[in-house]
Amino acid sequence: MPAFTHHIFVCGNVRPPGHKRGCCDPEGKQALREAFKQELKKAGLGPLVRANHAGCLEQCEHGPTVVIYPRGVWYGRVTIADVPQIVSKTLIQGEILDDLVIPESCLNNATCPHRRAIKRG
Ligand code: FES
Repeated sequence: MPAFTHHIFVCGNVRPPGHKRGCCDPEGKQALREAFKQELKKAGLGPLVRANHAGCLEQCEHGPTVVIYPRGVWYGRVTIADVPQIVSKTLIQGEILDDLVIPESCLNNATCPHRRAIKRG
């Protein structure tokens, strides 16, 4: 058995209210990560898949942000309600959920239109 098959990094960064970039976990409760942990346990994936707390993943404008390795699947605007389908479809079936994907053109792109939209706002 491999040590791990996947790591899910869940941004739990907290910034002060009104910060220009916002943050993924304004309440600082790591509720999204806890939802992943529970769902993984329910699916029997606990020993092979880790849901790790992450600091800022630099995709704040798309947050709450989650990245799943080893495939490097980036999901944005993730809610607790999305967690069961991320586990069942992406982790178990290997399916990418198009409605949650952060566009490739936005990743590591300081000129991402979403960033500029917020800076201009
Ligand atoms: S605060 Fe979550 S990606 Fe930056």
